[in-house]
Amino acid sequence: MKTLVDFEADAARYQAVYGRVCASDVAEFHQAASSLFIISDSNVWSAHGEKFSELGPAMVVPAGEASKSVECWSEIQSWLAESGADRKSAILAVGGGMITDLAGFCAATYMRGIAYSSIAASLMAQVDAALGGKTGIDLPEGKNLVGAFHHPSRVWCDPQLLKTVPEPEFKNGMAEVIKYGFAVDALMLNLLESRRAEIANRDEDALLEITSRCGSLKAQVVREDPKETIGRRAVLNFGHTVGHAIEAESGYQLYSHGEAVCLGMIVEAKVGELAKRTPAGSCARVIETVREWGLPLALRSSMNAERLIERMRRDKKAVAGSIAMSLLGEVGTCRLVPDVPEQIVIEALKVIEA
Ligand SMILES: NC(=O)c1ccc[n+]([C@@H]2O[C@H](COP(=O)([O-])OP(=O)(O)OC[C@H]3O[C@@H](n4cnc5c(N)ncnc54)[C@H](O)[C@@H]3O)[C@@H](O)[C@H]2O)c1
Ligand SMILES: [Zn+2]
Repeated sequence: MKTLVDFEADAARYQAVYGRVCASDVAEFHQAASSLFIISDSNVWSAHGEKFSELGPAMVVPAGEASKSVECWSEIQSWLAESGADRKSAILAVGGGMITDLAGFCAATYMRGIAYSSIAASLMAQVDAALGGKTGIDLPEGKNLVGAFHHPSRVWCDPQLLKTVPEPEFKNGMAEVIKYGFAVDALMLNLLESRRAEIANRDEDALLEITSRCGSLKAQVVREDPKETIGRRAVLNFGHTVGHAIEAESGYQLYSHGEAVCLGMIVEAKVGELAKRTPAGSCARVIETVREWGLPLALRSSMNAERLIERMRRDKKAVAGSIAMSLLGEVGTCRLVPDVPEQIVIEALKVIEA
């Protein structure tokens, strides 16, 4: 079974295909390209490279966020040039979000932009990172500081690939799935409950149902706000104002992105309740869901609230130093609130105290 999700943003039109993918699908899709260059990481390539290696030469970078760097970007650009890549060549990303961001940015910049497609290998990539056209790399000064909007021409999301994703990485992706539920789709929360065991066991049908649903939700939000200019795309940032602050304050060492987002969702649900925007009981429901998926409910060691607040003021959604958060209305709805009072955030942070 295959589910197709249409993405439309500015002039770009493309599909994410949820279902099995094989090399011949990719070859057929790219038949007009003069050549195809694969970019993958060491883990994904050793688990799945064999299936796709016939498609073209591959650059396999070390697994891990450190490869989303200027150095790797530069190495790949030189490799493309030395290998004779031209304007009609295409790049195929085979990997999680690190690779789809890196390969997408390589495609955005090589010869001022060539085509690329992705085989999204992690849950995070299939529900979020590979979709929506944001590409980029990190700088020592901060994550995702250099990048471009450059849409893939196709994204394949094969549930079979998810079987080899390490458990902590799978949970990391589940945090984003939970986020979709609370921020934009209450039905997703029912699905997560009714198919919990199947999803946890990586049953293909169950995975397909939740990943394609997330894909459709992201497609809808991207269609409404392709370049993140009207605040609509910020609904998918529920949990992220606080989450990013926790990640950054702990030097990206102590918490995975998904863990930080779960703590963020708990705090932001509480902020909503205290600000009388979110119905009472919502924070308890977030806590219950996060608990069910084995994600953290509290900080592992205490953090200075003032410093977290300082980081929130510098969040990309913030204007003129006030704290901006995507706060829940009824479960399944969310709105960007540009000026959340600091005192409320300090109070809400107590819910996740170590
Ligand atoms: N562009 C966007 O809109 C967007 C959105 C969210 C996240 N991101 C970016 O995505 C990245 C995080 O994505 P991620 O969580 O997928 O990280 P990742 O790509 O680093 O993958 C996590 C780990 O799992 C391994 N892995 C992935 N798929 C596997 C598979 N099928 N089998 C075995 N191992 C596998 C990887 O090798 C890696 O070690 C970050 O760089 C983040 O900034 C981008
Ligand atoms: Zn996220």
